[in-house]
Amino acid sequence: MDILPTSFRDLNGLHKLEHACFLDDAWPLLDLIAVLTWPDVVRLKAMLDGQMIGFIAGDPRPSQGFAWIATLGVFPEYRRQGVARALLTECERRLEIARIRLCVRTNNVAAIRLYETADYQRVDIWRKYYHDGGDALLMEKAGG
Ligand SMILES: CC(C)(COP(=O)(O)OP(=O)(O)OC[C@H]1O[C@@H](n2cnc3c(N)ncnc32)[C@H](O)[C@@H]1OP(=O)(O)O)[C@@H](O)C(=O)NCCC(=O)NCCS
Repeated sequence: MDILPTSFRDLNGLHKLEHACFLDDAWPLLDLIAVLTWPDVVRLKAMLDGQMIGFIAGDPRPSQGFAWIATLGVFPEYRRQGVARALLTECERRLEIARIRLCVRTNNVAAIRLYETADYQRVDIWRKYYHDGGDALLMEKAGG
């Protein structure tokens, strides 16, 4: 597996991945275009046999003093093989900001476990954050 930067040419693959991973929470096409083109965003894909199997985007916000992990997903058939952890580690390295934040559904056990094992702490709960009324867990990693 290779971890590589993405470009606008990855839009189709990212669109498929987004729907496979997030169902009703999937970003609309315009947001996917933005994440693939917005300046300074760290966007990485995991590639296996010429196919995108995972994606991560990290948004540095130096004025806020931290960066955000904007999205992270891996196709179901490639999960539990370390793909997300590899993407997260490389994204954190490229963000070059010690403090990183993210939001995750409070019932997303897999993602919360991944982030906890990567040293993210539970910071807050944002009630009714998602369109269906679901709560978000705010997590933060304070690097050294
Ligand atoms: C969350 C997600 C990105 C994890 O991807 P992944 O490639 O399977 O994760 P990894 O294989 O790198 O797992 C790393 C660690 O995370 C934890 N983890 C991952 N999936 C887990 C699961 N289903 N149950 C419990 N722990 C899990 C484990 O600690 C795992 O380490 P281990 O396999 O050595 O036990 C993937 O399940 C996914 O795409 N989900 C849908 C989209 C999503 O929820 N994204 C996060 C939004 S904030």
